[in-house]
Amino acid sequence: MQLIYEKSQAGRRAGRVPDYGLPVPEVPAELARKEPPRLPELAENEIVRHFTNLADRNFGVDTGFYPLGSCTMKYNPRVNERVARLPGFASLHPHQEDDGAQGALELMWELQQILAEVAGLPAVTLQPAAGSQGELTGLMLMRAYFADRGEGDQRDTIMTADTAHGTNPASVTMAGYRLVKVATTERGNLDLDDLRAKVDERTTGLMLTNPSTLGLFDEDIEEVAEIFHSRGALLYYDGANLNAVVGKSRPGDMGFDIVHYNLHKTFSQPHGGGGPGGGPVAVRADLEPFLPSPQVVRDGEAFRLDRDRPKSIGRVRGFAGPFGVFVRSYAYMRAHGADLRAMSETAVLNANYVLAGLRDDYEVPYDRLCMHEFVLSARALKKEYGVTALDVAKRLMDYGVHPPTIYFPLVVPEALMIEPTETEPKERLDAFIEVMKTIAREAAESPELLKDAPHHRPVRRLDEVKAAKEPIVKHAFGERPRVEAEV
Ligand SMILES: Cc1ncc(COP(=O)(O)O)c(C=O)c1O
Repeated sequence: MQLIYEKSQAGRRAGRVPDYGLPVPEVPAELARKEPPRLPELAENEIVRHFTNLADRNFGVDTGFYPLGSCTMKYNPRVNERVARLPGFASLHPHQEDDGAQGALELMWELQQILAEVAGLPAVTLQPAAGSQGELTGLMLMRAYFADRGEGDQRDTIMTADTAHGTNPASVTMAGYRLVKVATTERGNLDLDDLRAKVDERTTGLMLTNPSTLGLFDEDIEEVAEIFHSRGALLYYDGANLNAVVGKSRPGDMGFDIVHYNLHKTFSQPHGGGGPGGGPVAVRADLEPFLPSPQVVRDGEAFRLDRDRPKSIGRVRGFAGPFGVFVRSYAYMRAHGADLRAMSETAVLNANYVLAGLRDDYEVPYDRLCMHEFVLSARALKKEYGVTALDVAKRLMDYGVHPPTIYFPLVVPEALMIEPTETEPKERLDAFIEVMKTIAREAAESPELLKDAPHHRPVRRLDEVKAAKEPIVKHAFGERPRVEAEV
């Protein structure tokens, strides 16, 4: 496909602004352009065709099955968009006085109440804009809490599981803590012996997702909480996998003190491609004074932003948080009500259904009842036929399926992490199982077919390192860089 600059023809125009005979402003000579801007010149229909053709090449939950593990790529109901666009919400100015924004503040306050109920913890901040920012906020809360107790200098270590998502260790380092990793047992739980040996008076807390990135619920979670709490340390729940447990079990009841939610996953936001996100954080009562400022509070029938928070860690994001995300999540929660429990049950059922369908064709490194996702390994395919998890993922694209998450978690060699979500009907799941079985057969019969995949996509196999390290994001005007894989 040609770039829009290559389609450009001098003098072509999409439309013309009428000449109203307005005075032409004087532009100082040193600021005036010497040459016209290098913009593509096309007729309107050609512009529309260009961008429509580009858009047609996109893949998303609206075009096909998207089992990207840990990302919860569920269908986002259209009504959420409609509600988020209501003029009273969409046109509200972030500096609006509280008394002119009562509806928005009430929505945020209500959202806080629902999130508190989901987590089983009483206080919530809506400010963080993503799960990872929730993590950083949670660690800042831990620092403020221990500083307030005079233990700030003593506690400098945070533990994470060896299965942790990359943002966990990154947040720990960013917050200035020392990172200690805890091993996982063969059954997929945290290794309690390893944990006991590592928890000491320097331990600030644990950061854990439950179910883990293996898609497994930690069977010893109460004991884990006891080990940390007996040392005065705190437990942080990475809520990226909350889709498995809403209405079934609450992180606060498991013993967690701080929880983040990924609104964009569990509570439906169109988040493929990096946004928009929401990462609210819930805390137990004695951590509430440290929550970011401002905080949405209710005084009788009125709602306001409370800025009088002397112990607060301060602001972690502009204004009161990603408001459009709040509206969509709130609409989603109200639309589902008590059925949010069924959402999680169906997510878990769907994952177990697909796992059962693939058990004979792929290695299952942790073979027990999974939660909303599960991890397979292509290790045997690699050993026997030289076919890797990457090859399987690329071949899936030929069958119109978005690849699962691969090579994560790191403890599983040749990992394929699959999360079907609750919004997929049985026929889609059956079709996916069939495709995965076909690919396993192809790996044995014609491995080169997989090595060269994808065959039927606009872009063939990329040099991913080069694409990441030397991305071409700008037109070269005359010196077009070679894009070999293009058809
Ligand atoms: C287990 C886990 N933790 C944390 C995160 C970070 O969330 P976010 O992408 O919203 O920053 C993710 C994101 O995929 C995740 O899967």
